[in-house]
Amino acid sequence: MDNRKIGIFDSGVGGLTVFSEIIKQLPNEEIIYIGDTKRFPYGSKSKESIIQISKQIVNYLVSQNVKLIVIACGTATSQALEELKQIYKVPIIGIIEPTILNCINNDTKNVGIIATKGTIRSGEWEKQIKQKNNNTYIISKETPLLAQMAEEGWTKNEVAKMAIKEYMKDFKDTKIEKIILGCTHYPLFEELIKQELGNNVEIINTGKQMAKYLKEYLNKNNMENTITNKENYSINLTDTECNFINVAEKLLNKSLKINKIEL
Ligand code: DGL
Repeated sequence: MDNRKIGIFDSGVGGLTVFSEIIKQLPNEEIIYIGDTKRFPYGSKSKESIIQISKQIVNYLVSQNVKLIVIACGTATSQALEELKQIYKVPIIGIIEPTILNCINNDTKNVGIIATKGTIRSGEWEKQIKQKNNNTYIISKETPLLAQMAEEGWTKNEVAKMAIKEYMKDFKDTKIEKIILGCTHYPLFEELIKQELGNNVEIINTGKQMAKYLKEYLNKNNMENTITNKENYSINLTDTECNFINVAEKLLNKSLKINKIEL
């Protein structure tokens, strides 16, 4: 039993797709969410910047005495997780490992990945998929406009339709069985992606994989929260001059209280 909080972070609203799955599957856990809106987008930044930003956030979460940290961001997972693990004692989990564990097996033949520029440049998804199944054929594509559009709440309008149509061209008429949404902002476009790729391509939402993994992890390590609280989470932003609240309230289907934090 460990009744301390779990820290979750991303550059903005994307991580809420992970947060929402975690609160569904682990309703007893108390959570501190950080949306680093001051420094959004992460996807176009250098690896050095992502490591530096991630360390600042992890330092803050450690100062809040969290029991575990979830990097609800593909960009920070692919470029900073390894470095963070060397530095901090607190367990830190990124979105790649749980997704590969749950979704790639010996039969997986063809997989698509979409993610930010930084994530694709890192080659981390490809590397870890190949470690699990060296015969898997991977088509990956950077789709940099999508996170920006998601922050604006443009996930169902005509612009979103056109962007998805364009980005999905490379995957149509291929034999991919699954497409991994390698950025946590992308589940907001799930409907449109489905429309483009059809029902035969499984769409992998990393938040769902993370929540499943986390549940098993907490149980195995005897770290579950045993106190049932009601509103047991806080949403914290590094800048509030943004559209976060509108998108977040729609996504979570509830009104939210936002705190501003200095990092
Ligand atoms: N949601 C993030 C990711 O999973 C970051 C997107 C961005 O800030 O560019 O990669």
